[in-house]
Amino acid sequence: MSLIILGIETSCDETAAAIYSQQHGALSNELFSQVDLHKEYGGVVPEIASRSHIEKINFIVEKALKKAGKVLEDIDVVAVTHRPGLPGSLLIGVCFAKGLAWAQQKKIIGINHLEGHVFSSFLDNKPPFPHICLTASGGHTAMYLVKGFGDYQLIGQTLDDAAGEAFDKIAKLLDLPYPGGPVIEKLAREENFQDYFHYPRSTADSLDFSFSGLKTAVLYDLVKKGAYELKAKKQSSLLTEKLKREVASSLLVAIKDIFIKKIKLALTQNPDIKAVTFVGGVACNKFIKNAFAEFCKEHNLNFFSPAPQFCTDNAAMIALVGNYKAKHNLFSDYSLDIF
Ligand code: KG4
Ligand code: ZN
Repeated sequence: MSLIILGIETSCDETAAAIYSQQHGALSNELFSQVDLHKEYGGVVPEIASRSHIEKINFIVEKALKKAGKVLEDIDVVAVTHRPGLPGSLLIGVCFAKGLAWAQQKKIIGINHLEGHVFSSFLDNKPPFPHICLTASGGHTAMYLVKGFGDYQLIGQTLDDAAGEAFDKIAKLLDLPYPGGPVIEKLAREENFQDYFHYPRSTADSLDFSFSGLKTAVLYDLVKKGAYELKAKKQSSLLTEKLKREVASSLLVAIKDIFIKKIKLALTQNPDIKAVTFVGGVACNKFIKNAFAEFCKEHNLNFFSPAPQFCTDNAAMIALVGNYKAKHNLFSDYSLDIF
């Protein structure tokens, strides 16, 4: 029997639902992005996020069903992100999924959001095992050794800020809008990705990441240039558009270098690796993606990065993991909670 899975994702600031068919893959992938609601605060406000999830979830699930040409009765399994994430946001998805599964007498599976990202590259590709997966988003930055579906191991992670968080926080320093990643990439392109200021790259021989030092380096460099007033915590008139572009460009090159260095080290420690995958919101970055593709080509490795709609938070990746868990009878019950 070919199962139909409804995926639900509400771990942060996207209300998402998708329908996944065991036979045909993702049939729909719908979401409501709250970016505009959080923009004026320069980051996600948890209370606003959970309220918005309540308002949108019904509509988004209906939209996903309609787009896939399915009705609730066609669904066999409800797969829902139950950790990690903002507690108030996760609760909306989990309670909604439990209610729906109970009312319709469907099976339910709780999915780890990060496992969703790790296997998101299978939504539009078939990366061989074993491979290294670099997950970089606003909330997480981690490297995994992936040996099979459900068989993966954390080999490195950020000790402080996530890579996306670094883009977002530095964008705020530069008085640029949230989320910072896309706008920093745009400004960096206008400077031809030149490395003007050579911000520090970690020299540690470890697979762990650290991005908070990068933020501090940018901050003090701006202060030194007179472009940021530390006491008043605000930009001065010396923060010109040209300087913004130069900082953005140097930052992007620094983050690319850090990623490549960590992947290189991971490959030396795991010589049987067949491919590298790059997932999460930061994987929308074409400059970093191209650098990875080039690096992998030079090292005779396959490289995979999902289409942008599968890089940022989405429910299709949650439904995909739900699919292989269902195949192995790894169901949850109604005691499913958010931790
Ligand atoms: O995966 P995602 O949608 O949400 C989380 O799980 O956090 O990732 C959002 C993050 C934000 O920090 C955003 O700045 C970053 O992904 N991002 C990018 C780009 N597009 C989104 N970072 C760098 N370059 C981009 N083009
Ligand atoms: Zn995510």
